[in-house]
Amino acid sequence: MRTPFIAGNWKMHKTLAEARELVSDLRDRIGDVSGVEILVCPPFQHLFPMAKAVAGLPIMLGAQNAHHEVEGAFTGEVSVPMIKETGATHVIVGHSERRGYFKEDGEWLAKKVRAVTGGGLTAIYCVGETLEERESDQTEAVVTRQISEVLGSDVPADRLVIAYEPVWAIGTGKTASPGQAQAVHKLIRSLLGSVYDTDTANSVRLIYGGSMKPANAAELLAQADIDGALVGGACLVAEDFAAIIAAAASKTRSAP
Ligand code: PGA
Repeated sequence: MRTPFIAGNWKMHKTLAEARELVSDLRDRIGDVSGVEILVCPPFQHLFPMAKAVAGLPIMLGAQNAHHEVEGAFTGEVSVPMIKETGATHVIVGHSERRGYFKEDGEWLAKKVRAVTGGGLTAIYCVGETLEERESDQTEAVVTRQISEVLGSDVPADRLVIAYEPVWAIGTGKTASPGQAQAVHKLIRSLLGSVYDTDTANSVRLIYGGSMKPANAAELLAQADIDGALVGGACLVAEDFAAIIAAAASKTRSAP
């Protein structure tokens, strides 16, 4: 059984004071929740103070990006060892905002996934199609390409989470239907079966992202191949993020 995984991507939100308030509110709301792994991904400069804020809580820490080189003349960038030093355990790689605004492509992301996993952290690798691609029936081809150009059997599967985030659902209030999301998660799992083997593919968490909120979390999380969520907007409100976490924890309780 795969433990549900709920990750919050804060993007470029929250001052340090607001971040502290959010984590303390979240702590009060989740109590001693079990059966679900929880991750928050603040902006880089909050990683050290947030590591202190989550110490002793069932909340892990992740970064939203990393450079693939360990060090060097790369102004404005942050490396995996620097992230690891903060206590963070995860890095989001290939979010559609990074692909779109910062032109990160498959070649670049393949290096990042290897830098993150090789550096001892877990990569949350994001894939997903645009609205235009979905409407022209290219979803399967796009997701297949995004998986095949970046993953390979040299990437340790136990340091990998894959987020399916249809670009048209991110921050738009439009959510993929549970059936649409499940179909792509199932495709990703079968692609992982070719990269690794079936047992390994069955061990990797596949999570959904794109306007997940308390009202739609339970039905998305109930799908067979959806093992959690990468949450944007709703993770900025402790009450909403806690409700999504509770929905994931109850998936564990109702598992056979
Ligand atoms: P959203 O963002 O929940 O605000 O749609 C998800 C994401 O970008 O990871």
